[in-house]
Amino acid sequence: MTTTIEDLQAEALARIAVAPDGAAVEALRVAYLGKQGSISALLKTLGAMTPEQRQVEGPRIHALREQVAAALAERKEALEAQALEKRLASEKLDLTLPAPEAPRGAVHPVSQVLDELAEIFADMGFAVASGPEIEDDWHNFTALNMPETHPARAMHDTFYFPDQMGADGRKMLLRTHTSPVQIRTMVADGAPVRIIAPGRVYRSDSDATHTPMFHQIEGLVIDRGIHLGHLKWTLETFLKAFFERDDIVLRFRPSYFPFTEPSVEADVGYAEVGGRRVLGGDGDTPGHAWMELLGSGMVNPRVLEFCGLDPTEWQGFAFGVGVDRLAMLKYAMDDLRAFFDGDVRWLRHYGFSALDVPTLSAGVGVRA
Ligand code: DAH
Repeated sequence: MTTTIEDLQAEALARIAVAPDGAAVEALRVAYLGKQGSISALLKTLGAMTPEQRQVEGPRIHALREQVAAALAERKEALEAQALEKRLASEKLDLTLPAPEAPRGAVHPVSQVLDELAEIFADMGFAVASGPEIEDDWHNFTALNMPETHPARAMHDTFYFPDQMGADGRKMLLRTHTSPVQIRTMVADGAPVRIIAPGRVYRSDSDATHTPMFHQIEGLVIDRGIHLGHLKWTLETFLKAFFERDDIVLRFRPSYFPFTEPSVEADVGYAEVGGRRVLGGDGDTPGHAWMELLGSGMVNPRVLEFCGLDPTEWQGFAFGVGVDRLAMLKYAMDDLRAFFDGDVRWLRHYGFSALDVPTLSAGVGVRA
Protein backbone atom coordinates (compact mmCIF):
# COMPACT_ATOMS: atom_id res chain seq x y z
CA MET A 1 0.00 0.00 0.00
CA THR A 2 2.73 2.38 1.05
CA THR A 3 4.60 2.03 -2.22
CA THR A 4 1.43 2.32 -4.25
CA ILE A 5 0.56 5.73 -2.86
CA GLU A 6 4.04 7.06 -3.24
CA ASP A 7 4.47 5.64 -6.73
CA LEU A 8 1.16 7.02 -7.75
CA GLN A 9 2.01 10.41 -6.34
CA ALA A 10 5.35 10.61 -8.11
CA GLU A 11 3.92 9.40 -11.38
CA ALA A 12 0.89 11.73 -11.31
CA LEU A 13 2.85 14.85 -10.43
CA ALA A 14 5.47 14.11 -13.06
CA ARG A 15 2.92 13.58 -15.80
CA ILE A 16 0.87 16.63 -14.85
CA ALA A 17 3.95 18.84 -14.86
CA VAL A 18 4.62 18.09 -18.52
CA ALA A 19 1.02 17.92 -19.83
CA PRO A 20 1.30 19.88 -23.11
CA ASP A 21 -2.21 21.36 -23.27
CA GLY A 22 -5.67 21.65 -21.70
CA ALA A 23 -6.89 18.42 -23.26
CA ALA A 24 -3.97 16.48 -21.81
CA VAL A 25 -4.64 17.98 -18.35
CA GLU A 26 -8.25 16.93 -18.62
CA ALA A 27 -7.26 13.40 -19.67
CA LEU A 28 -5.03 13.16 -16.60
CA ARG A 29 -7.81 14.41 -14.36
CA VAL A 30 -10.05 11.63 -15.67
CA ALA A 31 -7.27 9.05 -15.30
CA TYR A 32 -6.65 9.89 -11.63
CA LEU A 33 -9.72 11.51 -10.18
CA GLY A 34 -12.49 10.40 -12.60
CA LYS A 35 -15.01 7.76 -11.60
CA GLN A 36 -12.75 4.98 -12.87
CA GLY A 37 -9.58 6.86 -11.94
CA SER A 38 -6.76 5.22 -10.01
CA ILE A 39 -6.98 7.56 -6.98
CA SER A 40 -10.75 7.06 -6.88
CA ALA A 41 -10.06 3.31 -6.86
CA LEU A 42 -7.69 3.76 -3.91
CA LEU A 43 -10.38 5.66 -2.01
CA LYS A 44 -12.73 2.75 -2.51
CA THR A 45 -10.30 0.37 -0.77
CA LEU A 46 -10.83 2.28 2.50
CA GLY A 47 -14.19 0.53 2.95
CA ALA A 48 -12.60 -2.90 3.23
CA MET A 49 -9.94 -1.85 5.78
CA THR A 50 -9.95 -2.34 9.54
CA PRO A 51 -10.55 0.86 11.51
CA GLU A 52 -6.90 0.99 12.52
CA GLN A 53 -5.68 0.63 8.96
CA ARG A 54 -8.17 3.23 7.79
CA GLN A 55 -6.91 5.71 10.38
CA VAL A 56 -3.48 5.50 8.85
CA GLU A 57 -4.33 5.15 5.15
CA GLY A 58 -7.37 7.48 5.00
CA PRO A 59 -5.51 10.78 5.53
CA ARG A 60 -2.74 9.70 3.13
CA ILE A 61 -5.10 8.85 0.30
CA HIS A 62 -7.12 12.06 0.82
CA ALA A 63 -3.94 14.11 0.89
CA LEU A 64 -2.85 12.49 -2.37
CA ARG A 65 -6.15 13.31 -3.98
CA GLU A 66 -5.93 16.95 -2.94
CA GLN A 67 -2.37 17.26 -4.06
CA VAL A 68 -3.15 15.87 -7.51
CA ALA A 69 -6.23 18.10 -7.83
CA ALA A 70 -4.16 21.15 -6.92
CA ALA A 71 -1.44 20.16 -9.41
CA LEU A 72 -4.01 19.77 -12.17
CA ALA A 73 -5.51 23.22 -11.48
CA GLU A 74 -2.11 24.82 -11.37
CA ARG A 75 -1.02 23.23 -14.66
CA LYS A 76 -4.24 24.30 -16.33
CA GLU A 77 -3.78 27.88 -15.22
CA ALA A 78 -0.16 27.93 -16.33
CA LEU A 79 -1.09 26.62 -19.79
CA GLU A 80 -3.83 29.27 -20.13
CA ALA A 81 -1.44 32.01 -19.14
CA GLN A 82 1.07 30.73 -21.67
CA ALA A 83 -1.55 30.70 -24.42
CA LEU A 84 -2.56 34.28 -23.61
CA GLU A 85 1.06 35.43 -23.67
CA LYS A 86 1.48 33.86 -27.06
CA ARG A 87 -1.66 35.50 -28.44
CA LEU A 88 -0.71 38.92 -27.09
CA ALA A 89 2.70 38.58 -28.66
CA SER A 90 1.34 37.60 -32.07
CA GLU A 91 -1.72 39.88 -32.32
CA LYS A 92 -0.72 43.46 -32.77
CA LEU A 93 -3.12 46.31 -33.37
CA ASP A 94 -1.83 49.20 -35.43
CA LEU A 95 -3.67 52.17 -34.02
CA THR A 96 -2.18 54.48 -36.62
CA LEU A 97 -4.10 52.81 -39.49
CA PRO A 98 -7.16 54.75 -40.76
CA ALA A 99 -10.46 53.27 -39.53
CA PRO A 100 -12.71 51.60 -42.11
CA GLU A 101 -15.56 53.90 -43.08
CA ALA A 102 -18.78 53.10 -41.21
CA PRO A 103 -21.91 52.84 -43.35
CA ARG A 104 -23.91 56.05 -43.07
CA GLY A 105 -27.70 56.19 -43.16
CA ALA A 106 -29.60 58.68 -45.29
CA VAL A 107 -32.62 60.85 -44.56
CA HIS A 108 -35.67 59.71 -46.57
CA PRO A 109 -36.92 62.38 -49.04
CA VAL A 110 -40.29 62.45 -47.27
CA SER A 111 -38.62 63.21 -43.94
CA GLN A 112 -36.46 65.82 -45.63
CA VAL A 113 -39.46 67.53 -47.26
CA LEU A 114 -41.42 67.46 -43.98
CA ASP A 115 -38.50 69.20 -42.28
CA GLU A 116 -38.34 71.76 -45.08
CA LEU A 117 -42.07 72.46 -44.77
CA ALA A 118 -41.91 72.81 -41.00
CA GLU A 119 -39.04 75.27 -41.40
CA ILE A 120 -40.87 77.37 -44.00
CA PHE A 121 -44.13 77.53 -42.06
CA ALA A 122 -42.41 78.13 -38.73
CA ASP A 123 -41.00 81.29 -40.29
CA MET A 124 -44.58 82.39 -41.03
CA GLY A 125 -45.64 81.73 -37.44
CA PHE A 126 -47.25 78.31 -37.88
CA ALA A 127 -47.02 75.68 -35.13
CA VAL A 128 -46.94 71.96 -35.94
CA ALA A 129 -50.02 70.00 -34.81
CA SER A 130 -50.70 66.29 -34.99
CA GLY A 131 -53.55 63.84 -34.57
CA PRO A 132 -54.09 60.08 -34.45
CA GLU A 133 -53.77 57.95 -37.58
CA ILE A 134 -56.57 55.71 -36.27
CA GLU A 135 -59.39 58.22 -36.30
CA ASP A 136 -63.09 58.18 -35.56
CA ASP A 137 -65.78 58.85 -38.11
CA TRP A 138 -66.81 62.14 -36.53
CA HIS A 139 -63.40 63.80 -36.81
CA ASN A 140 -62.57 62.32 -40.22
CA PHE A 141 -65.93 63.02 -41.88
CA THR A 142 -68.91 64.36 -39.96
CA ALA A 143 -67.31 67.42 -38.34
CA LEU A 144 -65.74 68.22 -41.73
CA ASN A 145 -69.26 68.59 -43.08
CA MET A 146 -69.33 65.16 -44.68
CA PRO A 147 -72.43 63.52 -43.19
CA GLU A 148 -72.94 59.80 -43.54
CA THR A 149 -74.69 59.97 -46.86
CA HIS A 150 -72.36 62.56 -48.40
CA PRO A 151 -71.06 61.48 -51.83
CA ALA A 152 -67.59 62.95 -51.10
CA ARG A 153 -67.07 60.07 -48.68
CA ALA A 154 -66.86 57.71 -51.64
CA MET A 155 -63.63 59.40 -52.78
CA HIS A 156 -62.16 58.64 -49.39
CA ASP A 157 -62.62 54.87 -49.44
CA THR A 158 -60.49 53.66 -46.60
CA PHE A 159 -59.71 50.92 -44.10
CA TYR A 160 -62.21 50.44 -41.30
CA PHE A 161 -61.79 48.60 -38.02
CA PRO A 162 -64.84 46.31 -37.99
CA ASP A 163 -64.74 45.66 -34.23
CA GLN A 164 -63.56 49.01 -32.93
CA MET A 165 -66.15 51.73 -32.42
CA GLY A 166 -65.38 55.37 -31.72
CA ALA A 167 -67.10 57.60 -29.17
CA ASP A 168 -69.64 58.36 -31.90
CA GLY A 169 -70.64 54.67 -32.02
CA ARG A 170 -69.26 54.30 -35.55
CA LYS A 171 -66.40 52.18 -36.84
CA MET A 172 -62.90 53.57 -36.32
CA LEU A 173 -60.85 54.02 -39.48
CA LEU A 174 -57.42 54.91 -40.78
CA ARG A 175 -57.70 58.64 -41.43
CA THR A 176 -58.14 59.46 -45.11
CA HIS A 177 -56.64 62.93 -44.84
CA THR A 178 -54.95 65.25 -42.34
CA SER A 179 -58.06 67.46 -42.19
CA PRO A 180 -59.34 65.87 -38.92
CA VAL A 181 -56.39 67.61 -37.23
CA GLN A 182 -58.16 70.89 -38.06
CA ILE A 183 -61.12 69.71 -36.01
CA ARG A 184 -59.02 68.42 -33.12
CA THR A 185 -57.05 71.67 -32.93
CA MET A 186 -60.11 73.95 -32.98
CA VAL A 187 -61.99 71.80 -30.44
CA ALA A 188 -58.99 71.67 -28.09
CA ASP A 189 -57.60 75.20 -28.45
CA GLY A 190 -60.42 77.35 -29.85
CA ALA A 191 -59.34 80.37 -31.89
CA PRO A 192 -57.14 81.95 -33.16
CA VAL A 193 -55.26 79.09 -34.84
CA ARG A 194 -52.22 78.98 -37.08
CA ILE A 195 -51.03 75.42 -37.63
CA ILE A 196 -49.69 72.94 -40.11
CA ALA A 197 -50.41 69.24 -39.58
CA PRO A 198 -48.14 66.86 -41.48
CA GLY A 199 -48.68 63.12 -41.33
CA ARG A 200 -49.55 59.75 -42.81
CA VAL A 201 -52.97 59.17 -44.39
CA TYR A 202 -54.57 56.07 -45.91
CA ARG A 203 -56.83 55.13 -48.80
CA SER A 204 -57.55 51.81 -50.44
CA ASP A 205 -55.84 52.82 -53.64
CA SER A 206 -52.74 51.42 -55.33
CA ASP A 207 -50.98 52.10 -58.63
CA ALA A 208 -47.87 53.98 -59.87
CA THR A 209 -49.10 57.30 -58.48
CA HIS A 210 -51.20 56.04 -55.54
CA THR A 211 -50.11 54.05 -52.52
CA PRO A 212 -52.44 52.88 -49.73
CA MET A 213 -50.43 55.03 -47.32
CA PHE A 214 -49.14 58.45 -48.26
CA HIS A 215 -48.36 61.78 -46.65
CA GLN A 216 -50.24 65.04 -46.51
CA ILE A 217 -49.73 68.36 -44.90
CA GLU A 218 -52.68 70.37 -43.75
CA GLY A 219 -52.69 74.09 -43.06
CA LEU A 220 -55.23 75.98 -40.99
CA VAL A 221 -55.49 79.63 -40.06
CA ILE A 222 -58.42 80.93 -38.01
CA ASP A 223 -58.61 84.53 -36.92
CA ARG A 224 -60.73 87.65 -37.28
CA GLY A 225 -61.00 89.12 -40.77
CA ILE A 226 -59.23 86.32 -42.62
CA HIS A 227 -59.98 86.29 -46.35
CA LEU A 228 -58.94 84.59 -49.58
CA GLY A 229 -56.10 87.09 -50.09
CA HIS A 230 -54.38 85.74 -46.97
CA LEU A 231 -54.69 82.24 -48.37
CA LYS A 232 -53.20 83.22 -51.71
CA TRP A 233 -50.28 85.08 -50.17
CA THR A 234 -49.54 82.22 -47.78
CA LEU A 235 -49.57 79.58 -50.53
CA GLU A 236 -47.45 81.71 -52.85
CA THR A 237 -44.90 82.46 -50.16
CA PHE A 238 -44.75 78.80 -49.16
CA LEU A 239 -44.38 77.49 -52.72
CA LYS A 240 -41.69 80.02 -53.63
CA ALA A 241 -39.69 79.11 -50.53
CA PHE A 242 -40.21 75.38 -51.01
CA PHE A 243 -39.32 75.21 -54.70
CA GLU A 244 -36.68 77.92 -54.20
CA ARG A 245 -37.92 79.89 -57.21
CA ASP A 246 -39.31 83.42 -57.29
CA ASP A 247 -41.16 82.84 -60.55
CA ILE A 248 -43.75 80.39 -59.15
CA VAL A 249 -47.18 81.51 -60.43
CA LEU A 250 -50.38 80.31 -58.77
CA ARG A 251 -53.79 80.04 -60.34
CA PHE A 252 -56.93 79.58 -58.26
CA ARG A 253 -59.63 77.45 -59.83
CA PRO A 254 -63.12 77.07 -58.31
CA SER A 255 -63.60 73.64 -56.80
CA TYR A 256 -65.60 71.84 -54.16
CA PHE A 257 -64.70 70.46 -50.76
CA PRO A 258 -67.38 69.94 -48.12
CA PHE A 259 -65.24 71.61 -45.44
CA THR A 260 -64.46 74.82 -47.34
CA GLU A 261 -66.68 77.46 -48.91
CA PRO A 262 -65.66 78.79 -51.31
CA SER A 263 -63.25 76.02 -52.32
CA VAL A 264 -60.37 76.48 -54.69
CA GLU A 265 -57.87 74.24 -56.33
CA ALA A 266 -54.45 75.83 -56.67
CA ASP A 267 -52.54 75.16 -59.89
CA VAL A 268 -48.93 76.12 -60.58
CA GLY A 269 -47.44 77.03 -63.93
CA TYR A 270 -44.68 74.82 -65.31
CA ALA A 271 -42.67 74.22 -68.45
CA GLU A 272 -41.61 70.92 -69.94
CA VAL A 273 -37.80 70.99 -70.08
CA GLY A 274 -35.94 67.96 -71.39
CA GLY A 275 -38.81 65.64 -70.59
CA ARG A 276 -39.10 66.98 -67.05
CA ARG A 277 -41.71 69.29 -65.61
CA VAL A 278 -40.01 72.35 -64.22
CA LEU A 279 -42.19 74.55 -62.03
CA GLY A 280 -42.21 78.28 -62.65
CA GLY A 281 -43.74 80.78 -65.02
CA ASP A 282 -47.29 81.65 -65.97
CA GLY A 283 -49.08 78.54 -67.20
CA ASP A 284 -50.87 80.54 -69.87
CA THR A 285 -47.71 81.66 -71.65
CA PRO A 286 -46.39 79.69 -74.66
CA GLY A 287 -44.49 76.54 -73.73
CA HIS A 288 -46.14 76.47 -70.31
CA ALA A 289 -49.10 74.68 -68.76
CA TRP A 290 -50.89 74.44 -65.41
CA MET A 291 -50.50 71.61 -62.94
CA GLU A 292 -53.01 70.94 -60.21
CA LEU A 293 -51.16 71.05 -56.92
CA LEU A 294 -53.38 71.37 -53.87
CA GLY A 295 -56.86 71.86 -52.46
CA SER A 296 -57.84 74.77 -50.27
CA GLY A 297 -60.51 77.27 -49.43
CA MET A 298 -62.19 79.32 -46.74
CA VAL A 299 -63.22 77.16 -43.79
CA ASN A 300 -66.91 76.33 -44.09
CA PRO A 301 -68.92 78.07 -41.33
CA ARG A 302 -70.54 74.73 -40.56
CA VAL A 303 -67.12 73.29 -39.68
CA LEU A 304 -66.49 76.22 -37.31
CA GLU A 305 -69.87 75.54 -35.67
CA PHE A 306 -69.04 71.83 -35.27
CA CYS A 307 -65.93 72.96 -33.38
CA GLY A 308 -67.84 75.38 -31.15
CA LEU A 309 -66.62 78.57 -32.85
CA ASP A 310 -68.92 81.44 -33.82
CA PRO A 311 -68.60 81.91 -37.61
CA THR A 312 -69.72 85.54 -37.35
CA GLU A 313 -66.64 86.23 -35.24
CA TRP A 314 -64.04 83.84 -36.71
CA GLN A 315 -63.04 83.11 -40.28
CA GLY A 316 -60.22 81.11 -41.71
CA PHE A 317 -58.61 79.29 -44.55
CA ALA A 318 -57.33 75.76 -44.91
CA PHE A 319 -55.31 73.82 -47.41
CA GLY A 320 -54.15 70.26 -47.91
CA VAL A 321 -51.36 68.99 -50.11
CA GLY A 322 -49.63 65.69 -50.80
CA VAL A 323 -46.13 65.68 -49.33
CA ASP A 324 -44.91 62.80 -51.48
CA ARG A 325 -46.09 64.68 -54.55
CA LEU A 326 -44.17 67.79 -53.44
CA ALA A 327 -41.06 65.65 -52.94
CA MET A 328 -41.43 64.05 -56.38
CA LEU A 329 -41.82 67.43 -58.05
CA LYS A 330 -38.96 69.11 -56.26
CA TYR A 331 -36.43 66.28 -56.46
CA ALA A 332 -37.44 64.81 -59.85
CA MET A 333 -38.54 61.37 -58.71
CA ASP A 334 -41.19 59.60 -60.69
CA ASP A 335 -42.34 56.38 -59.03
CA LEU A 336 -44.28 56.92 -55.82
CA ARG A 337 -44.16 53.21 -54.93
CA ALA A 338 -40.34 53.36 -54.68
CA PHE A 339 -40.80 55.74 -51.73
CA PHE A 340 -42.10 52.94 -49.56
CA ASP A 341 -40.22 49.89 -50.90
CA GLY A 342 -37.42 50.26 -48.37
CA ASP A 343 -34.73 49.65 -51.02
CA VAL A 344 -31.47 51.02 -49.62
CA ARG A 345 -30.07 51.59 -53.11
CA TRP A 346 -32.94 53.96 -53.84
CA LEU A 347 -32.43 55.66 -50.50
CA ARG A 348 -28.71 56.02 -51.10
CA HIS A 349 -29.47 57.70 -54.41
CA TYR A 350 -32.34 59.96 -53.37
CA GLY A 351 -31.66 60.30 -49.65
CA PHE A 352 -30.21 63.28 -47.84
CA SER A 353 -27.34 63.66 -45.45
CA ALA A 354 -28.43 63.73 -41.82
CA LEU A 355 -26.15 66.72 -41.36
CA ASP A 356 -28.03 68.68 -43.99
CA VAL A 357 -30.63 70.27 -41.75
CA PRO A 358 -32.94 72.51 -43.79
CA THR A 359 -32.79 76.13 -42.72
CA LEU A 360 -34.16 79.16 -44.48
CA SER A 361 -30.83 80.95 -44.35
CA ALA A 362 -28.84 78.10 -45.89
CA GLY A 363 -31.55 77.06 -48.36
CA VAL A 364 -34.23 74.59 -47.39
CA GLY A 365 -33.31 71.93 -49.95
CA VAL A 366 -29.55 71.62 -50.10
CA ARG A 367 -28.51 68.20 -51.36
CA ALA A 368 -25.27 66.80 -50.03
N1 DAH B 1 -58.56 66.85 -47.27
C1 DAH B 1 -58.52 67.00 -48.72
C2 DAH B 1 -58.17 65.68 -49.35
O1 DAH B 1 -57.52 64.90 -48.75
C3 DAH B 1 -57.51 68.04 -49.11
C4 DAH B 1 -57.94 69.40 -48.71
C5 DAH B 1 -58.65 70.18 -49.57
C6 DAH B 1 -57.62 69.88 -47.47
C7 DAH B 1 -59.06 71.43 -49.22
C8 DAH B 1 -58.02 71.16 -47.09
C9 DAH B 1 -58.75 71.93 -47.98
O2 DAH B 1 -57.74 71.67 -45.90
O3 DAH B 1 -59.14 73.18 -47.62
O4 DAH B 1 -58.53 65.45 -50.47
